[in-house]
Amino acid sequence: MRSEREILTPKYPHLLHGGDYNPEQWLDRPEILECDLRLMKQAGINCVSLGIFAWSKLEPAKDDFRLDWLATIVDKLYEAGIYVDLATPSGARPRWLAEENPEVLRVDERGKRARFGGRHNHCMTSPFYRERVAKIDARLAKRFADHPAVIMWHISNEFEGECHCELCQKAFRRFLKEKYQTIENLNKAWWTAFWSHDYSDFEQIEPPGASGEQSINGLTLDWKRFVTAQTTDFMNQEIRTVKTYAPKIPVTTNLMGLSDVLCYPSLVKELDFVSWDSYPNWHEPGQNVYEGMLDSFTHDYMRCLKNRPFILMESTTSTVNWRPVCKLKKPGMHRLSMLNAIGHGAQSAMYFQIRQSAGGPEKFHSAVISHLNSEKTRVFREVEALGAELGQLSDLLYDSYVEAEVAILYDKESKWALTASCGPRNAGLDYDRICVSFYEYFWNAGINVDVIDSSASLEGYKLVITPMLYMYHNDLQSKVRAFVKNGGYLLSTALSGYVGSTDLCFTAAEEKEKLEDVLGICVEEIDALYDTEANATTWEGIRYPLHTLCELVTCGGAEILSVYEKDFYKGKPVLTVNAFGSGKAYHLASYGNKALYKALFDRICRKAGIEGVLGKAQIPDGIGVASRRNGNKTFVFIGNFSEEEKSIEDRIKLKPFEMQMVVLECP
Ligand code: GAL
Repeated sequence: MRSEREILTPKYPHLLHGGDYNPEQWLDRPEILECDLRLMKQAGINCVSLGIFAWSKLEPAKDDFRLDWLATIVDKLYEAGIYVDLATPSGARPRWLAEENPEVLRVDERGKRARFGGRHNHCMTSPFYRERVAKIDARLAKRFADHPAVIMWHISNEFEGECHCELCQKAFRRFLKEKYQTIENLNKAWWTAFWSHDYSDFEQIEPPGASGEQSINGLTLDWKRFVTAQTTDFMNQEIRTVKTYAPKIPVTTNLMGLSDVLCYPSLVKELDFVSWDSYPNWHEPGQNVYEGMLDSFTHDYMRCLKNRPFILMESTTSTVNWRPVCKLKKPGMHRLSMLNAIGHGAQSAMYFQIRQSAGGPEKFHSAVISHLNSEKTRVFREVEALGAELGQLSDLLYDSYVEAEVAILYDKESKWALTASCGPRNAGLDYDRICVSFYEYFWNAGINVDVIDSSASLEGYKLVITPMLYMYHNDLQSKVRAFVKNGGYLLSTALSGYVGSTDLCFTAAEEKEKLEDVLGICVEEIDALYDTEANATTWEGIRYPLHTLCELVTCGGAEILSVYEKDFYKGKPVLTVNAFGSGKAYHLASYGNKALYKALFDRICRKAGIEGVLGKAQIPDGIGVASRRNGNKTFVFIGNFSEEEKSIEDRIKLKPFEMQMVVLECP
């Protein structure tokens, strides 16, 4: 069954295998390009990302455009059966451009303008930069719009960062004026009467920063929202430029997973599909299984940004060069991690990079083709084997999709607010790790999960989990209320629903905002625990340790399932459940361990009719199970992320870092 949703690149609707390719570094070595083509074909590479940082070769001096070398390479790639993901080069500007107008260089929080250097560090507001970017983008788009090789646009590279120049500050004030209309509204929303921080004019507002205002969380949040909005506006300008000349070529940009810099659900609206760069820290002792879960969780978040499959745009064939300790990928890990991405909805396995550069800061980053220039390396052979396998799997898998009945809410703006807030635990609250700890059960049990944020719809799910969702916004409360009322299962956890969108606490009159009616509880206080401290709770005869936070809850109708074991709040509820409409709302007033979450989700899944793709099979720890469906066929991806051999009820045996695919058919 064909559906438009899965077809990301209509000109070449196949699983893509390839990566970033930088022939501009070798233009004086034609034999290298010939060798690359031969080796790429051998490795089953069918798509490369071209021109990402090639601006100085495309426009070596102002208005001196040189696109012929690129056209020759695109032609040769096409002849070799290799398609192109063509980049706009705005991620790194040429030196002449910064010399001509330093306004393109970012200003830091203390007001100091950067000198030329690095990449990803231009001002998003600068009209001059925008004009130059539009010019080069238009040239590229005009030249390559009808080239049969070009199947997608790679807009810039890993958008990130902020600039505090006068232009950005002015734009920020305009953004706030539009949002709040009057300074009185803004003062109210930001609670500026505290410590006499009221503003009397929008002109007084400066971005937050260590040398200035740090005590208004509403300001901090709105600044981050502005940075996302300004980046989005910059990116959309690029999108519109290329679409003017090449309206049929889809656009994407490579995101950075759970990076906290931008709010991706707001950024991605004008992209045709999402792509992202995945660099897990494989093989740090004892961390592999967690890394496997975290990577899978991030794939799910990326997929849900547009509820479409995504492109895994970058990953590494073996080692990166930028970690404190750069480990090689052990044999098998490459195949495991790439097929796992596909299991979670990727339509590609792509790498940074095809050929290792001889110089520059990334010369020790691994690649398909290393400095040895050989097809006999271990890494090349693994890539080649995967290329052959993807070639065989493409027709089978391309039209399938990940379907989920469970959603975890992972909300970037709520995380920003939590990070900015003082209390209740300034020693650290690892929001990402907390969210992943609730994901583990499903990852292991073969139950697909959508990772969504609070702007998403909750319709169609059987279970929604809102771990540590400190901020309720985007009309979440009415969506949750309708969801539970109509029969959904909700699990909320400690420190959820304390504030609204500008970090103002919900007060007594706003109990509905806190979902007290849905949860049937009222949170009176919250205690923070040292890392060396624990409480505990016994539920259905089993005792579970509790950590990090303990809410003191009074029940307003909810049934108490378990209570605290000690401290002055001994006997107060830990786990509660409330019937609301035809659904059930659970609340966990603290944080527990894997065993507690297993017991809890075993119960909820049984009641909600949620089952893993492998039915009742006992799946050992360390294994992640994902699945994609197409009609009556389900493709199951079973990966062993641990360093030990594992077996599933003696039926499926998996070596360390092995991935097996099983096809299930139901009539
Ligand atoms: C990515 C970036 C690439 C390359 C890679 C190295 O973040 O987009 O250009 O630097 O990291 O791992």
